[in-house]
Amino acid sequence: MEWITLILTVSIVIISFHLIFGKSQPSAPPCIRGWIPWFGAAFEFGKAPLHFIQQARAKYGPVFTVVAAGKRLTFVTLNEDFRAFFNSKDVDFEQAVQEPVYNTASISKDSFFKTHPTCISIIKGRLTPGNTAMLSAHLCEEFNDHLESLGSEGSGQLNELIKSVMYPAVMSNLLGRCNSPSSALSRQEFFEKFTTYDDGFEYGSQLPDMFLKEWANSKQWLISLLRNMVANAEDTLYSESYEKTLLQHLTTSVPDKYLPNYGLLLLWASLANAIPITFWAIAFIVSNPEVYKIAMDQISTALGDQDKKKTKVTLDDLQQMPYVKWCIMEGIRLRAPGAITRKVVRPLKLQNYIIPPGDMLMLSPYWAHRNPKYFPDPEDFKPERWEKADLEKNVLLEGFVAFGGGKNQCPGRWYAIMELHMFVALILHKFEFTLLDPVPKPSPLHLVGTQQPDGPCTVRYKHR
Ligand code: HEM
Repeated sequence: MEWITLILTVSIVIISFHLIFGKSQPSAPPCIRGWIPWFGAAFEFGKAPLHFIQQARAKYGPVFTVVAAGKRLTFVTLNEDFRAFFNSKDVDFEQAVQEPVYNTASISKDSFFKTHPTCISIIKGRLTPGNTAMLSAHLCEEFNDHLESLGSEGSGQLNELIKSVMYPAVMSNLLGRCNSPSSALSRQEFFEKFTTYDDGFEYGSQLPDMFLKEWANSKQWLISLLRNMVANAEDTLYSESYEKTLLQHLTTSVPDKYLPNYGLLLLWASLANAIPITFWAIAFIVSNPEVYKIAMDQISTALGDQDKKKTKVTLDDLQQMPYVKWCIMEGIRLRAPGAITRKVVRPLKLQNYIIPPGDMLMLSPYWAHRNPKYFPDPEDFKPERWEKADLEKNVLLEGFVAFGGGKNQCPGRWYAIMELHMFVALILHKFEFTLLDPVPKPSPLHLVGTQQPDGPCTVRYKHR
């Protein structure tokens, strides 16, 4: 009995000492666990992840953890912590994305860790602002050709119209002319398979193939297609008179049996984010008469009355349309990716918390762009806020993180900005658009990539 009294007394003294004199130790951030073990808050989170993040931030503060399907997702919402997210040695990009890469492109773990850095350094090198400029003339020809196949007038879903032009044009530009789906039939087949793959990408990145049969079939179909494309790229390496394509640069430097699989990821990265942004930029411009007028004045002045079937848009022309570029940047800001991720590999200090290794660190560009300190009236489409950026020198606005940051920042960002700027100028120069539906809201369902429209957006168009 005396022993028990002694132990209790000593324990109470130690605990009291710590409570009274002990410095408060940094601890884990508030955690939303839900009530089902392992599954955690997956159900509430999955219903509308973007809304969930906003509500959790209001309730739990700037750093919080969500337990969902066995994973711990720790959200970082303060701009002052973004530097650690992008640059800390205690977090890792490749470890965060390896499993999703396996699920979406069937690339083995060993190959990924071995080959990913080389692939990315080639893509980065080929898509610098200077090299991107060299791709612009061919891209313009491709846009012209495919825009002409829309006919002189018609109507349809804006999203589908954009895809029908951008898919083949960008594929030809980055993967080679011989690798663009050429006949109407093969374009349609590619269109269907790629749309299924893209629509299911977010679930596909988290679940094994057996749960997503149709999606997995589309993935396999696309990997076989890419296998042929890699073979074509190798065959035409020395025979085409053009500069080597991005795919050809990869085939010569990355001797890996998974190259077609990397090719699929590159194709997805190059289309999946750019197409929704093109949709939003056109929808925002056309639905806003003042913006539409300013944009059209610049486009008409820069492009003059050239033959509309073969309108040449040079980089000098693009420089004369800064307002159109601001519209693109504002579209990217407002519909930025839901979240980007890193894996915590060593204890990471943020605010007064220690984030444990194994946590997935999450940063939401979508919500970061709604911080009024950096973007006053954040929900408004205000192209003129980009006047403060030095876009000619490739300096974007403070607080803008749509392309991520650090060494894994989007390597296609300069290409994306040039491509979207050119496409929007060209399509608005050739066609007059009328929206037959109100501009839809963004779907709250997506964390991966830029935001998708929540409903249809039918347009009527006719040649100017
Ligand atoms: C508006 C269009 C685009 C947006 C908003 C966007 C955004 C992003 C973001 C947020 C990331 C992850 C960065 C990070 O975690 O820090 C990323 C990665 C990537 N993006 Fe883009 N992107 C766009 C267009 C493109 C285009 C056109 C290409 C190719 C031509 C491209 C190629 C890539 C690749 C290859 C990666 C993976 C990088 C890696 O594995 O390290 N992106 N992009």
